[in-house]
Parts: sequence; C-alpha cells; structure tokens
Amino acid sequence: MAGSSARWLRTLLNTLDFLMPLMAEDGSLRERILDDRMFVSRCIHETIRLRAITPHMKRRAEADTVIAGQAVGQGTMVILNIQAANLSEELYGPDAAEFNPDRHLRDGVPRWGLSFGFGPHQCPGRSSAVGLPVPGDFKPREDHLYGLVPLTVQETVRRGVRRDPNRQPVLDDRSERLAFTSFPVIFDARGTHA
Ligand code: HEM
Repeated sequence: MAGSSARWLRTLLNTLDFLMPLMAEDGSLRERILDDRMFVSRCIHETIRLRAITPHMKRRAEADTVIAGQAVGQGTMVILNIQAANLSEELYGPDAAEFNPDRHLRDGVPRWGLSFGFGPHQCPGRSSAVGLPVPGDFKPREDHLYGLVPLTVQETVRRGVRRDPNRQPVLDDRSERLAFTSFPVIFDARGTHA
C-alpha cells in the first residue's frame, strides 16, 4: 500500500497530460469535462490503461500449471507484461494505442486493462481512487461511485489548468514508465463551488 497516494497523484498528472493539449485544440472539451463526470472517469480509466503505473508484475506458481499452452512448473517466477496486455487490439480495437475515452468495449473487458492487477491481490483501493467500472451504456447511475481522481480532475479543470508555455514537464529518466519529476501548469480561473 506504500505509494498509493503517489499512484493517484501520478494518475492525475498523466490524465491532465492527455487532456490539456486536447482542451487547447477543442474549446468544447472543457465544458464536457465539467458537465459529464462519467466521461471524466473514462478519460482516467483510459489513461491508466495506456500508462500502467506498474507495467510489469510478478507471480510465483504455487503448483504446476499451464498458461497460454505453456507448462509452468511449481515455484517458477512469471513476469506479467501488463502494458502489452493493455494494448491488445483484440480487446481494445485497432486504435488500442490511442487515447480514446469513448471506445466501446465488450462486456467484461476492463477499461483500465490490467493496471490494477487481477485476482485476489487486485488493488483494493481502486474504487476509492478512480471509481467503479463505467457502465457499458455510459449512463450515470444515481449511486455510481466516482472516486477521488475524477473529482480532482474536474476541480483542476474548473480552475482553468493549462500547460505553462515557458516551462516543459520534466520526465523521470530513472523510471522505465512515464513519470514526471516536474509538471508545471498555470491556473487561469479561480475555483467556484457550483
Ligand atoms: C490510481 C491509483 C492506484 C493504482 C494505479 C494502484 C495500483 C495497484 C496495483 C498495480 C497493485 C498490485 C496488484 C496485484 O499485484 O495484482 C495494487 C495493490 C494494492 N493497492 Fe493500489 N493502486 C492505486 C491506489 C490505491 C489506493 C488509493 C489504495 C488504498 C487506499 C491502494 C491500496 C492497495 C493495496 C493494499 C494493495 C495490495 C493488495 C494485495 O497485495 O492484496 N491502492 N495497487
């Protein structure tokens, strides 16, 4: 659980990194983000799929088994390539590598891919961080849980976040995944409590 706060912060920055250039291109996107929280959820789940915070996970086989037709002996360490699975065109379509929060998925295909793990050790903090899975029809349910990150993205956008044109984000070159050591932004508007 150590690092779970860093994980949600990285998810926030990664989502803004996708959304800020799109907002600069399309003037209507800001209103869509403020009006449609289910859309914001999809943007975040799509971000998590494309930029898995843990791109590789390890599992040790408890017993002899067969995975994808290959024998795996008891005690073998298996490395799961989460990022590759998240880009499966069979599951996510020919534009699997693109940021497309409006993609439609078959029932049972997780919008966030395997980025929260799978099985008994799947991240138990996922609902509080990024909410419940988005319903297939995209329609909000009265009791839908959105989680912390969608609310934070909306409030950040409400305050008029945009890239600082004079200072570029700095990538952490010690990490195999895309992570920022610095992410300069400017806020153009004061918050409202609408
Ligand atoms: C966007 C934010 C987050 C991401 C991307 C994330 C991702 C992950 C991943 C990849 C795992 C390993 C899953 C596995 O091995 O199958 C994990 C485990 C875990 N996460 Fe999260 N997490 C996030 C937020 C949180 C939060 C907010 C909490 C707590 C409030 C939390 C609590 C935990 C715990 C306790 C585990 C260990 C579960 C176990 O081993 O049984 N996570 N998380």
